[in-house]
Amino acid sequence: MKLHTPLCDILGIEHPIIQAGMGWDKHGSTTPPALVAAVSNAGGLGMIGGSPMQPDLIRERIRAIKALTDRPFGVDITWPRLSEAPSADPRQARDVIEREHPGHLTFVQNLLGELALEPQEPDKASWVKTLDGVRRQLAVILEEQVPILAIGLGDTAEVVPQAHAVGTKVMALCGTARQALSHARNGVDVIIAQGYEAGGHTGRIANFPLIPQVVDAVRPIPVVVAGGIADGRGLAAALSLGAVGVWCGTVFLISQESAIHPDYREQLVVGRSEDFVLDRYPSGKTSRHYRSEVIRAWEKSGLAPLEMPFQGVLNDELRVAAEAADRVSVMSVPGGQIAGLLGPAAVRPAADVLRDMSAQAARILQEMATGYLVPDGAPVG
Ligand SMILES: Cc1cc2nc3c(=O)[nH]c(=O)nc-3n(C[C@H](O)[C@H](O)[C@H](O)COP(=O)(O)O)c2cc1C
Repeated sequence: MKLHTPLCDILGIEHPIIQAGMGWDKHGSTTPPALVAAVSNAGGLGMIGGSPMQPDLIRERIRAIKALTDRPFGVDITWPRLSEAPSADPRQARDVIEREHPGHLTFVQNLLGELALEPQEPDKASWVKTLDGVRRQLAVILEEQVPILAIGLGDTAEVVPQAHAVGTKVMALCGTARQALSHARNGVDVIIAQGYEAGGHTGRIANFPLIPQVVDAVRPIPVVVAGGIADGRGLAAALSLGAVGVWCGTVFLISQESAIHPDYREQLVVGRSEDFVLDRYPSGKTSRHYRSEVIRAWEKSGLAPLEMPFQGVLNDELRVAAEAADRVSVMSVPGGQIAGLLGPAAVRPAADVLRDMSAQAARILQEMATGYLVPDGAPVG
């Protein structure tokens, strides 16, 4: 027996498992082509985490993946409401911060000193996402005829008609039933309900209360669960709650094909669930990430995080300096509470993660049907 749900037919995949679109740095280390293609080739859906990438890099990645697989894959971007950044040039955004929030800039400069990190010029890949930039990302994805697009944050009204016009299916993340309904009204094909436990930008409602509410609100649109799933137990639970599949981030982030810095992998491997905290310090929007040295310093500063994209510009200064010194462990990668379940043995090929998850879920569902069901009225005990 193997698992097969309506999601498999909608996306043209074998297992109802999607590798989450994860964007973190501008180089795309969280979802390199090797990872995306490995997941798609193994019968799941691999996703490029395109959100922080410049449009040209997204195009390059799409083409690299097309060379590695002829199976379906997708790109995830975000469509947040962005506080007005003057341009894509980080130096101009920095000037705004200097004028309007000098205390934040002083904090970052002092922190660089305390961490003994050399300030660096913005690297070539650094840019500030503006609405124009997001629209250019979308244009590339549609020009390249990527089969699946996911919208990780923000509104889908502008995106869905454009994607559907070229035959691209749209999935969208939500953290409440209200957001799910808004995506449903916009015509998205699959809703991804993401719980509190998830890594990266996420909401404040946990999956157990969230999923049935979203399923009820958007029926018959299929729902996929994101957050806290790393094996077949989580997949079987998601299906029991009425979903048709799962969208997994942290478990693939830790896998062999992800290209994150070894220090980050170490944080995920040794981190306990409680080490992955939720706040607005990395980007200006609520997100879950490892509580690293930089995060602890922000907490101690008493400074309120700036709005997106300005908070991200400040953290980028720290990131670039930390990367130049090869001391990225002071920064923090987003990660979910499920990291607490994942030790060194979780660093393995993504295809193995996917196949084991699917097979374990199938086994659990079968065992539950045969083990927990008795004829009505039969003697028990
Ligand atoms: C490193 C990292 C980066 C992420 N970046 C994005 C992103 O750019 N867009 C998005 O839709 N979700 C992003 N997320 C959230 C994931 O898509 C997904 O919902 C989440 O990882 C699921 O929870 P899990 O980590 O417990 O599996 C990110 C998550 C992580 C761990």
